[in-house]
Amino acid sequence: MARLQHFGWFFSRGFGPQAWGREDYRWGYDWKRPDLYVQAVQQLEQAGLDLVILEDALSLGSEQAIDLRVRGAYGGPKHDPLLLVPYLLNATRHLGFVPTINPGATPPYLAARQAATLHHLSGGRYGLNVVTDTASSRHFGVPQLGHDQAYDRADEWARVVRQLWHSWGEGAYINDPETGRFADSTRIDAFQHRGEYYEVAGPLNAVPFDDGDPVIVSPGGSPRGIGFAGAQSTVQLALAPLTVDSVTGYRQKVVEAALAAGRAASDIKTLFVFKPEIVASDDEVDRIVAASENPSDEQLAAILLGQSSDLETDLTGLDWESPLDPEALFGDHVSRGSIKGLLAGAESFADHTLRELLVRHARKGRAADRAGWVGTAEQIADYIEEFGEVANNDGFIFSGDLHPVTVHRMLDQLVPVLRRRGLLRREYGDGNLRGNLLDF
Ligand SMILES: Cc1cc2nc3c(=O)[nH]c(=O)nc-3n(C[C@H](O)[C@H](O)[C@H](O)COP(=O)(O)O)c2cc1C
Repeated sequence: MARLQHFGWFFSRGFGPQAWGREDYRWGYDWKRPDLYVQAVQQLEQAGLDLVILEDALSLGSEQAIDLRVRGAYGGPKHDPLLLVPYLLNATRHLGFVPTINPGATPPYLAARQAATLHHLSGGRYGLNVVTDTASSRHFGVPQLGHDQAYDRADEWARVVRQLWHSWGEGAYINDPETGRFADSTRIDAFQHRGEYYEVAGPLNAVPFDDGDPVIVSPGGSPRGIGFAGAQSTVQLALAPLTVDSVTGYRQKVVEAALAAGRAASDIKTLFVFKPEIVASDDEVDRIVAASENPSDEQLAAILLGQSSDLETDLTGLDWESPLDPEALFGDHVSRGSIKGLLAGAESFADHTLRELLVRHARKGRAADRAGWVGTAEQIADYIEEFGEVANNDGFIFSGDLHPVTVHRMLDQLVPVLRRRGLLRREYGDGNLRGNLLDF
């Protein structure tokens, strides 16, 4: 019997001009208006996905990187995803929405109150993707913390947010016109939190939840990131190589972190970022893989610009025929994970020219022989089924532009196959986002 898995979508370039310049984007879609996203999320709901996580960057990046980020609309601009969410909630009934939020920018009281409001408005379909990026600190007048300190702050932030949500204790919200009592203030906790990063007085000016708190999602993959997930999250958005060993090992670490924090293994789902390229036939797979073998300089230059934007470091003027020196190039603001990503699976920078690394990025592999992600829907479903059975995988988060064309391409053929094989839900549970995530 196949293992039922959870599926979601990572709106990986946030609320901005993602897919900008692409032919199918020029049909008159306006990224600043809600229509494009509304249409896409309705399709995701019809497909039976559990949640949409909306990436965000608070800043256009360091002053030196602004041109790299905006030139091809790769890293910005971005509008606030929190404010897009009400439109998406209003257009759907079951799908959960999880915008990105950064404890360095949104104080706990504000975050708790906004979340409470949207969670109530949506019948429990709201969550928070808690990130620890500190590079945007200068826009908020707060000091730029180091990696581990940012996790200390996020831990404190999440504890305070929860304390605020629970500041209306059992029986505080009465809402009984017969007795004339709306609330019992003796059960409302006007706590004083004085921590290392925040001073917050309770209680929250919002009523408590009937069906559980908004879910917390987290993406950080370092030991500190996994520790945060174990203590705080219902979903870990996992970015890792999709091999059975790596998926099994990553999930195991998350489960151990949850157990260490006194929670049950079943309290947290580890969902892996997955970007398959689904095509109609084996012939098409062969054609796409063969075409990627010898990428043009123009294709490589586009990859280099994207990497420069992500890494906030201008790599475009470097000599392609020499290895690059990561120590000399990247400042402390660039995450180790992103630098490793530039290697595209290679062992070390010293052994490869920049051109070789770019070619590795451009090359695609066949899903059928486990060399990559180009495959027919059946071949991709084989992969998904295998991970469920062999690696106990909880599920996947598809990644891409929240654009109807991208969504169609990814899901039209895959969804019926996943459903036929018993890998994707046939109906939503009667719960909210938390209920859907925890119902198997
Ligand atoms: C899959 C994934 C998604 C992320 N999404 C965001 C995001 O939307 N906004 C953001 O500021 N940081 C984002 N981050 C960065 C993390 O919050 C974190 O700052 C970074 O991964 C470094 O932490 P780590 O060393 O624990 O991985 C993301 C990271 C990963 C791996």
